[in-house]
Amino acid sequence: MADRLPLIAANWKMNFTIEESLKFITALTHELKAAGNVEIVIAPPFTALYSTGVALSETPFKLAAQNMFWEESGAFTGEISGAFIKDVGCEYVILGHSERRQIFGESNEMIAKKVQAAIRHNLVPILCIGETLAEREARKTWNICENQLKTALSSIQLKAIENFIIAYEPVWAIGTGRQATPEQAQEIHHMIRNWISKTFDGATAQRLRILYGGSVKAKTSREILSQPDVDGVLVGGASLDPVEFAEIIRSVPQK
Ligand code: PGA
Repeated sequence: MADRLPLIAANWKMNFTIEESLKFITALTHELKAAGNVEIVIAPPFTALYSTGVALSETPFKLAAQNMFWEESGAFTGEISGAFIKDVGCEYVILGHSERRQIFGESNEMIAKKVQAAIRHNLVPILCIGETLAEREARKTWNICENQLKTALSSIQLKAIENFIIAYEPVWAIGTGRQATPEQAQEIHHMIRNWISKTFDGATAQRLRILYGGSVKAKTSREILSQPDVDGVLVGGASLDPVEFAEIIRSVPQK
């Protein structure tokens, strides 16, 4: 198996003022004297990106935005460009989160444009895919995931995929307390890696990091993180507590 550096990402969603974000970073650095062999990414809301980025510059942690728009500039009231999030120090951007898809009507085609814009700005996309409960029950899980991958990555070159992160986040597991079983996650992660191998190439697929997201808690993270194709987790609710988030980071199996 390729040597993939585990990645633990915090998606704070619409939580934390500047002051609360800074308090969290102080508490997390205090909790984590030595994090081990793991990459840590924090995604605050837009308004706290700059100040959190300044605080993170003293740490090995990286900064991510939770979304971005695909256009460069102009009359797009309320939108934030790739250049803007790069300007405040982001290295990563979460794209296609199910809340964006479901609440804000983002389609696979819109997400594809965002993926292309992120790559133009040298941002690493954390592309979220996943099925709803009805789709899982109708045995359409893989169809849905494949379709999301196919459209989002339709005009992406092999070189850009080298720097990609995919997050499998079943919609029924997000914020519900109902985490996918380690076996369910492993099955889809394995299928994603096979699809990347078939569509791009085998070596790239082996290097690609695939995260699991959906109700990850400190109590359950170790088991899911020990699956062979699970390279990290994207954490929502449990990332708002620095003590619990530090515990999730410490649960990464050190190989
Ligand atoms: P959750 O959210 O951990 O609160 O389920 C995960 C996510 O939406 O990325």
